[in-house]
Amino acid sequence: MKIGILTSGGDCPGLNAVIRGAVIKGDTVFEDEFLGYRDGWRGVIDDDWVPLPRRRVRGIGRVGGTILGTSRSNPFADGEDGAAIVRRHLEEHEIDAIIAIGGDGTLFTANRLVDSGIPVVGVPKTVDNDLDATDYTFGFDTAVEIATHALDRLRITGDSHHRCMVAEVMGRSVGWIALHSGMAAGAHVICIPEFPLSIEEICQQVRSAFDRGRAPLVVVAEGFVPRDAPEDFMDYDLDEFGRPRFGGIAQALAPLIEQRLGVESRATVLGHIQRGGEPTGYDRVLATRLGTAAVDLVHSGGIGRMVALRGTEIVDVPLADAIDSVKRVPRSRWEEATVLFG
Ligand code: F6P
Repeated sequence: MKIGILTSGGDCPGLNAVIRGAVIKGDTVFEDEFLGYRDGWRGVIDDDWVPLPRRRVRGIGRVGGTILGTSRSNPFADGEDGAAIVRRHLEEHEIDAIIAIGGDGTLFTANRLVDSGIPVVGVPKTVDNDLDATDYTFGFDTAVEIATHALDRLRITGDSHHRCMVAEVMGRSVGWIALHSGMAAGAHVICIPEFPLSIEEICQQVRSAFDRGRAPLVVVAEGFVPRDAPEDFMDYDLDEFGRPRFGGIAQALAPLIEQRLGVESRATVLGHIQRGGEPTGYDRVLATRLGTAAVDLVHSGGIGRMVALRGTEIVDVPLADAIDSVKRVPRSRWEEATVLFG
């Protein structure tokens, strides 16, 4: 078969391992031929691609980012019906299927293309770990690892100066990275969008840690807003897709804590550093398994489906499942964490 691969949406450690896994499996087992679209769906629309022979994926499994480039373009932007263009390009090059590696937006587009008769299978990706149809997404473990190391460092300097350190991590609508890195680093408060604390509650936990002689560490997910904050508390610019461009909640919280408690406070935004690293061993293995399974899915006629992790097994589910619901931190995980606050 001839298979096109693309990476779309925000980049994520492990994308290259998926590509490598798919190409090696397809080459070795099925004698498939691969090509890689540049910059996600843009490459499909513009017919911009590179051949992906096995030698091209040599050693990339341990490298962060994506060798194909990525973007958030999609064939249906601005009311366009890009399906006809995609179909024409696939026919011209006799491509049998596309493996689309991406988050909810990418998988939504993939599903829409499938409805128009375009053969696509999906591989779920997000550092935020917010896709419900899979237990974990690759990239999340790496982001947590990077954030945890950064938080450990913030604790050291916070301890030296008896300061409260407020660290902002990724997580647009879910607090998985904040919860896991905060727990791993022994944070005194974790603020996540799912269970918004009030400013008063955050300050109580900071006070309690400070009074015990600790330098309080507050970890906050970028999409968090305190329960009692006024509506215009955070005023984010929108990106070209109309999504808030987050970044700044830590800088908003730190002076409030300092004012209310008289505890010197500093803010740090970890931002894209969390996405840029080499994938951890866990993410390399997960991504590789998803890549090899995606090729199996193409060969077993699984068009319109995506590979997913369930427990320790790789399974496949309808693409529609991935776009249906966001995986939020459940109350049980939140309550488990709150016992450690203060
Ligand atoms: O959705 C993944 C994510 O990393 C979010 O956590 C973050 O808000 C966003 O992407 C950043 O997007 P961009 O790369 O466009 O700045």
